[in-house]
Amino acid sequence: MTTACHLLDLDGAQRPFVETLVSRARQFKAGVPNQGLRLRGRIVVGMFFEPSTRTATSYAVAAQRLGAVWLDFRSEESSLRKGESLEDTMRTLRAIGADAVVVRHREAGFPHLLARHFPGSVHNAGDGAHAHPTQGLADALTLVEEFGDLTGRRVLIVGDIAHSRVARSSAKAAHLLGADVVLCGPPLLLPSQPAWGFAACTSDLEAALPGADAVIMLRLQIERGTHGELPPADDVARAYGLTLQRSQAMAPHAILMHPGPVNRGLELAPELVAAERSRIAHQVENGVYVRMAALERTLGHADREHAA
Ligand code: NCD
Repeated sequence: MTTACHLLDLDGAQRPFVETLVSRARQFKAGVPNQGLRLRGRIVVGMFFEPSTRTATSYAVAAQRLGAVWLDFRSEESSLRKGESLEDTMRTLRAIGADAVVVRHREAGFPHLLARHFPGSVHNAGDGAHAHPTQGLADALTLVEEFGDLTGRRVLIVGDIAHSRVARSSAKAAHLLGADVVLCGPPLLLPSQPAWGFAACTSDLEAALPGADAVIMLRLQIERGTHGELPPADDVARAYGLTLQRSQAMAPHAILMHPGPVNRGLELAPELVAAERSRIAHQVENGVYVRMAALERTLGHADREHAA
């Protein structure tokens, strides 16, 4: 659900929503005057119940570049550990003056629950295997910068699709902008057909690689599968890892992406991480700009929502 006030997922999003945020992010990247005044005095709280490097830091930088204050809510040291309910914790954060919370949690739907208890803006920074909307938008920005119009471009997402919130959000954003999305992995790690209503699935990586304009590699998300569900990591790496040799089957113009963290030598050969066709560093950088666009959009509407 994506409303004016929250950014929870891209499930019901329409093309103009993605286009608007991507183009605003491009403006921020090009340099918007007085950007440090846009959210001056606003308070954004990061609630990360799962590890994060890229998403948490880029949200913090995005908030600060817009003039907002970023606070880290340390869940392990909070009163949630003393038995305080989530509802009371959210009420407390609001009383302190928080305008937005950015939440990551292992349970799908947790940010949606939190949004029911918090009158400000809630951003989903990753909920279980469900959604990671700003990663989807960052990947869309990276693709648009590369190809302009995505109509007819093929985006191939490879690896552990079934447990990946990034796959779902990045696939949706690329699809909304006109790309053809193909998901590739062992049958156990693919979503059920037809995938999310728009993507094609294959288990044949060799056949899929040459036709792709962009290849997004994913790690095996061991923490999200029970042991019975997941094929052995070495087997997945052998069959679906992008080795130097396999990468030679990619079209000369095709780009390589990965949301991170990369497990070098498993889903991606170490030499490919910073190879010429790699856009991994761009994805991280673009994460800052889409998060600026997303914070501006949702907080820009927050007062009106509160008044309603
Ligand atoms: C991902 C995440 O945590 O969802 N990373 C990210 O935010 N860029 C991907 C992952 O954990 O594999």
